[in-house]
Amino acid sequence: MPVVSGSSGRVIAEALAPLLDMEHVELISRRFPDGEGYVRVPSKSIDSVRSEPVVLVSNTYPDSGVLETILLLEAIASVRTGDLSNYKNEEPQSLPDVGPGVFLAIPYFGYSRQDKRFAPGEPVSARVIGEMLARCCDGIAILDLHAPIILEDLSVPVEFVSAMPEIAARLSNEVNPDFILSPDKGAIDRANEVATIGGWDFSYLEKTRIDAHTIEHTPKDLDVQGKIVAIVDDMISTGGTICRASDALHRQGATEVHAACTHGLFTAGAISRLSNHVDGVHSTDSLPNPRAVVSSAPALARGLKNLMG
Ligand code: R5P
Repeated sequence: MPVVSGSSGRVIAEALAPLLDMEHVELISRRFPDGEGYVRVPSKSIDSVRSEPVVLVSNTYPDSGVLETILLLEAIASVRTGDLSNYKNEEPQSLPDVGPGVFLAIPYFGYSRQDKRFAPGEPVSARVIGEMLARCCDGIAILDLHAPIILEDLSVPVEFVSAMPEIAARLSNEVNPDFILSPDKGAIDRANEVATIGGWDFSYLEKTRIDAHTIEHTPKDLDVQGKIVAIVDDMISTGGTICRASDALHRQGATEVHAACTHGLFTAGAISRLSNHVDGVHSTDSLPNPRAVVSSAPALARGLKNLMG
């Protein structure tokens, strides 16, 4: 069975294929000079894509990733349904349909934070993208989605998987923390999972976001005097949340503070900002980044095994 990838999923697809006893096949994906995307299932891989169920690894980030994922799914579907119509008017224009069996693995689901209407007139972007993808595949595995509830009732089965077991293993091997902190209420379940796996103490902060770059943490008395603390979140973007939480921990006597996340977006300046506030940053490879030290393949493999029975 093939695990296929376009421009964003190659590294994870290569790691995922052996975990699923499958082979990795790279699809063709490039950009025209005007920036538009082009994808194709290479001729040599058409038999493989038609022979058995297929897993596509692709991120819906950045914006070009949303479109590329849809085009790749459509390319795979056309190969599997045998639809060759519009192919230079040559015959034959069709092959037998080999049936369903296209599964999408999304390491980082872009637009996941727009999971509500925060103001009238906004789209619920996460839902819009989820529905578009569900129309083009037979099941989806998503790694550490910000708020899974928004995609719980899509028209295809969705497996919400988490890299927290792998993040706990990384922290245990490299940091040996005394204490795990969730920087806000939204990350409590994930951070608590890490704390439970490692047998570490756990607490959380109350966070108020003032704007995209400014957040406030409500002071909370934490017993972190002389302790090594790891802050665990689903994603780090500007780094503002982690930096403020780390400052609060240092004020309360923590000796070492680390940050761990699934999705290392690290928008402009985040890595250097973080290096002034924490002793280490540990991310998965769901997005390529300089702190990607944990593989997201094992978590995605768990979800795909459930999806494919
Ligand atoms: C928000 O609820 C998320 O879980 C993260 O805490 C947030 O997106 C991190 O953003 P930043 O790094 O810009 O503070």
